[in-house]
Amino acid sequence: MLYYSYSGQTRRLLDTAAAEFATRGYDVTNAQIGFTDARYARRFARFPMRNVWPDMLSVLPAQVAGKTGDISIPREVSETPYDLVCIGSPTWWSKASMPIRSFLKTDEARNLLAGTPFATFVVCRDSWKGNLDEVRKLGQWQGGHYIGGMHVEYPGDQVRSMLSLTSFLGSGEYRESYRGVRLPPTNVQPEHLDEVRVFAAGLADRLMGEKV
Ligand SMILES: Cc1cc2nc3c(=O)[nH]c(=O)nc-3n(C[C@H](O)[C@H](O)[C@H](O)COP(=O)(O)O)c2cc1C
Repeated sequence: MLYYSYSGQTRRLLDTAAAEFATRGYDVTNAQIGFTDARYARRFARFPMRNVWPDMLSVLPAQVAGKTGDISIPREVSETPYDLVCIGSPTWWSKASMPIRSFLKTDEARNLLAGTPFATFVVCRDSWKGNLDEVRKLGQWQGGHYIGGMHVEYPGDQVRSMLSLTSFLGSGEYRESYRGVRLPPTNVQPEHLDEVRVFAAGLADRLMGEKV
């Protein structure tokens, strides 16, 4: 289970998938990528965000340009081989987040993924495709075998889901309304976790099938 997770939503998805694999007898290893880049790390080291819009916008130019930054990679990543690599990837400005993109361009990623099946779990408010495609392409470029991907999207229309999410990221709390506008729930919902269980079970079945 390899992921970056600022506010813990991607981690929730992968913890759920991990439990599903564990009930089927798999040993699951967690590897959380750290975002250490001096230009941004201070903003993303604290939760909730101090200034939600400036903090979110700080990575926008780099995201649009598809740039990489400094990250930390846990030692579990080099303890290969693995039967399957699950990559948890939050969306940042319609693409994979800088920490995941940066990881996928490293030699460590090549060592982990070359010749190995991988699956992608995308977490976003609403824009999943650019992220999913980017992770798939980079994983394949490193020699990995893509065997599937899923995404979760948060409830509500564009404006309300954005207000609900930014209110959460800036306060760490769930609010029911903002200036009189009723807000939908934000973040990963229980039904998303049900979808993760089904998806992970399918991956596990497929791996089992390929082994016999
Ligand atoms: C800097 C930043 C940019 C984001 N940009 C987008 C976006 O373009 N589209 C989207 O659907 N969600 C976007 N989000 C929402 C995240 O995908 C969402 O908050 C998700 O829960 C993050 O997962 P995490 O808690 O595992 O980090 C953004 C979040 C952050 C922090």
